[in-house]
Amino acid sequence: MDRNLAMNVARVTEAAALASGKFMGKGDKNGADGAAVDAMRRMFDTVDINGTVVIGEGEIDEAPMLYIGEKIGTKNESEEKVDIAVDPLDGTSSIADGMANAVSVLAVAPKGCLLNAPDVYMDKIAVGPKAKGKISLEYPVAKNIEIVAESLSKKVEEVTVAVLDRERHADLIKEIRKTGARIKKVSDGDVIAAIETCFESAGVDMLIGIGGAPEGVIAAAALKCLGGDFQGQLMPLDHPQRQRCEKLNSDLEKIYHIDDLVKGNEVIFSATGISEGELLGGVKYLKGHQAITESLLIRLPSGTIRFLKTIHKLDQKPGYAW
Ligand code: FBP
Repeated sequence: MDRNLAMNVARVTEAAALASGKFMGKGDKNGADGAAVDAMRRMFDTVDINGTVVIGEGEIDEAPMLYIGEKIGTKNESEEKVDIAVDPLDGTSSIADGMANAVSVLAVAPKGCLLNAPDVYMDKIAVGPKAKGKISLEYPVAKNIEIVAESLSKKVEEVTVAVLDRERHADLIKEIRKTGARIKKVSDGDVIAAIETCFESAGVDMLIGIGGAPEGVIAAAALKCLGGDFQGQLMPLDHPQRQRCEKLNSDLEKIYHIDDLVKGNEVIFSATGISEGELLGGVKYLKGHQAITESLLIRLPSGTIRFLKTIHKLDQKPGYAW
């Protein structure tokens, strides 16, 4: 993939963040999500790629835009084919409630490299580079915490484990508490929490627990670029979810490792903060029709990690009038 594609990938998540940030705290989940999807889709129309959405807003009959299988970009058949995984707004409830850590995320990889994960739950574990290759979803949580502590030369009591704040994690939280490790409950959005494991300053050493499988593939793409580790096992919780797995012939027994979720050595990943977070600041709208965004942009081949702080002149961009 052309390395200059990275800048366009960042433009796409910036567009989604700028559009959905306006909905912060307004209690309008659908409005926020719709604005992110619409802006992302429009920006994709300016990008010179031959892409197909493999992780998106749902099946063609349930999502008008960015649905699975949708062709994206200028559709020039001579261009290399790429697969696209998007979550225009990860943390829909967070943005609607005016809470932290909502982001727009996107991964691009050559065709066939991103797992076509069904829209079901996934049991996940994510860690940073120092614990890579050492953790396992098959281990009890206490063992994984010990491994992370040892890898980071920390005491178990100093390890911080991020867990989505959900009823289904009540037993998991009890088990983590027994070890003495610290817990960061995440109200919404486990992609950014997984990414935080790769940045010491973000204060998260491990993410564990059940979240969305599509988000799992997107997080794995980011962690592969960052040198971290990720494993996931599909967890359909009801009959419709099991049907979705059957449709895609998904292997429910398999523990997907990072290289099963994201194959090859070419990935571009971008995340733009929508509401304030530990790693990325949220969108700030300034006087004079300007706004600031903060994005994380990574390319696997070079491993370069870019933090982009961008000032946008909204009156010079079509469709961004406040
Ligand atoms: P959306 O904002 O895209 O709906 O996802 C938010 C999220 O918290 C994900 O980050 C996470 O993987 C999933 O939802 C968890 O699902 P649930 O809210 O059903 O527990």
